[in-house]
Amino acid sequence: MSDTASKSHGRKSITASLKPRSLMDGPERLARAWSAQVITLLPDAFPGILGHSLTGKALKDGLWQLDAIDLRQFGIGKHRNVDDTPAGGGAGMVLRADVMGRALDHALPRAPKGAPLVYLSPRGTPFTQAMARDWATRPGVTMICGRFEGLDQRVIDHYDIQEVSLGDFVLTGGDLAAQAMIDATVRLLPGVLGNESSTEEESFSDGLLEHPQYTRPAEWQGRKIPDVLMSGHHGEIAKWRRAMSEETTKGRRPDLWANFPKRND
Ligand SMILES: C[S@@+](CC[C@H](N)C(=O)[O-])C[C@H]1O[C@@H](n2cnc3c(N)ncnc32)[C@H](O)[C@@H]1O
Repeated sequence: MSDTASKSHGRKSITASLKPRSLMDGPERLARAWSAQVITLLPDAFPGILGHSLTGKALKDGLWQLDAIDLRQFGIGKHRNVDDTPAGGGAGMVLRADVMGRALDHALPRAPKGAPLVYLSPRGTPFTQAMARDWATRPGVTMICGRFEGLDQRVIDHYDIQEVSLGDFVLTGGDLAAQAMIDATVRLLPGVLGNESSTEEESFSDGLLEHPQYTRPAEWQGRKIPDVLMSGHHGEIAKWRRAMSEETTKGRRPDLWANFPKRND
């Protein structure tokens, strides 16, 4: 991609390359753009998947911006050590409080006011569509990607950091989780998706999973598209989709179904 990526003071800024047409309003737009700061040992892993497709185009267009901050720059000694053995013994290494503290003292003054401070962690609150919607209304987010056995608890307590999990499994590091959560948030920012209504009707938007989708050919491997979808009757199609949404949610996700507010069974 043709983003301008520059490295200084442990920071890899991935911002828009301005087109001539937008030279006048570009910097101002970027100053107001939704901003993600990510503290990581793998700054070169960013923007990663976020640099592709609609999120990548939006990044280039300056609808959002990304700073990957290299934790190594705040490490100790010649080798820039960032981790040490766990207090009390045990396997693995833990990210040091003093090192992460320095990284945060660098990042926080640069974060827009009101941006949540998040540590990606399997011990955290599970990430949801509601959280993505909330973050999309904020000016951005600051994220810490863990590695090894995780981060010294004192940093989490001292900075009152919100711990958020991508799901009930353990990743090698927080970077993939950060990219997944940023993707889910950025696609909700105005102008990022071509068709705004597609976020209104998708899974979780009203507490239900989405109905199944079909497209051409009308028949494949002896399987036909349900007749109602070919009928052109918009009222019937809407009714069918709603019924399928409810049936799928009830069967697959009883936890969502139990909390579905408009349920009437
Ligand atoms: C190997 S994991 C550490 C797991 C930790 N020892 C535990 O058992 O909870 C290393 C890092 O990956 C990230 N990580 C792993 N699983 C994650 C998940 N489900 N959601 C978000 N981040 C995760 C966290 O940043 C974590 O510090």
